[in-house]
Amino acid sequence: MHDPSPRPRAFRPLGPLRGTALVPGDKSISHRALILAGLATGRSRIGGLSEGRDVLATAAGMRAFGARIGREGDSLTVDGLGGALLQPRAALAMGNSGTSARLLMGLAATRNLTATFTGDASLSRRPMSRIIAPLRRLGADISAAPGGLLPLTVRGLLPAAPLLHPMEVASAQVKSALLLAGLNTPGITRIFEPVPTRDHSERMLGAFGAELEVEEAADGRILCLRGEGALRAQTLSVPGDPSAAAFLLVAALIVPGSEILIQGVGINPTRTGLFEVLREMGADLRLSNQRTECGEPVADIAACHSHLRGVDVPPELAPSMIDEYPIFFIAAAFARGTSRTSGLSELRVKESDRLATMARGFAALGMAVEETVDGLAITGTGGEPLPGGTEPIDPQMDHRIAMSFAVAGLHCRAPLTIADMSPAGTSFPRFAETLEGLAA
Ligand code: S3P
Repeated sequence: MHDPSPRPRAFRPLGPLRGTALVPGDKSISHRALILAGLATGRSRIGGLSEGRDVLATAAGMRAFGARIGREGDSLTVDGLGGALLQPRAALAMGNSGTSARLLMGLAATRNLTATFTGDASLSRRPMSRIIAPLRRLGADISAAPGGLLPLTVRGLLPAAPLLHPMEVASAQVKSALLLAGLNTPGITRIFEPVPTRDHSERMLGAFGAELEVEEAADGRILCLRGEGALRAQTLSVPGDPSAAAFLLVAALIVPGSEILIQGVGINPTRTGLFEVLREMGADLRLSNQRTECGEPVADIAACHSHLRGVDVPPELAPSMIDEYPIFFIAAAFARGTSRTSGLSELRVKESDRLATMARGFAALGMAVEETVDGLAITGTGGEPLPGGTEPIDPQMDHRIAMSFAVAGLHCRAPLTIADMSPAGTSFPRFAETLEGLAA
């Protein structure tokens, strides 16, 4: 997989956003659906799968392990391996996708194979030690670039020893990787999660027939997975991605006169921290048509232009809005008063250092924000447009930074140029068209 060439693009006020839109299938759920379908016995059918580059990296990885992936109407079909993964013939190119890399490392760790993982410049800077350490403890042999970085080779161990693992970092990727390793480990893998993170893996493992029990304890959750069970193929429909919907919803909140509806968005409570915070800021966000799809709660979400107030976001909310801080910072930039965040050191090791990249972007817009070790404080315009029209904003290969500043461009006095919009394709390939479609 190669990085596409940079695509600069200017965003400018287009008038109020109106109408209805759909967003791509949830990226986290899409990765998990492809992996579990690839392991199951029989043909799974997956509707609504994300076609962003990150999910395509997982699909390519599962193909390299021997799964057959095809198309039937609007659904993707996956002929699973019944648990028997093949030795990949070449290194697995994970592109920009931390989720693909970490989940597939967990998968490989308890298999009789050797897999090498490579990534783009951004992924090659992201920490892998958090996953290398527990996988080594269950017996996998892992050699990584200095500092625990990609490129990295996993030599799986079969049979591996079941883990008893207390989570040190609140990370759904690490948790999910260890569950995937546990699927092929004799006995019971136990993971203790003091701070809850997105639980899509747990929900989907249950749907595919894995023996997983979740115990709620006073100080956290304990996941107990019995290994070596059989997974059965499923027919799934992936809900819309709340992390993608967030960009459109915030756009409607900040652009005067807007009123939009995003249909079929996942509202799993481990993902909806941003919606809570926006409501506290005074946002007019309304849920309707609530239902369950793919074992996940789903709703249509309406947003109308709102006069937002600054807010202090408690650090406890971080896991449930971890990917939404860049677009939250944009909402804060248009609010009345100051918004403060803290406890966000994880944002420094995402696709970019999101605190530094956002602070630099705001500076390029002529807006002073205060950057602390683990947060930003932003004093908003009270709803007035930002100046825009300065030097292009460099998103540092980070899709969520590119899309966040693009949204800001809809309420600027002069066009705001993003130096490269191509990163949006990692999670939301038709982002600019969807946004502009709502403005038409
Ligand atoms: C994800 C978990 C989160 C999130 C990422 C997707 C997942 O990462 O930021 O975009 O699908 O499990 P961490 O596990 O590093 O918090």
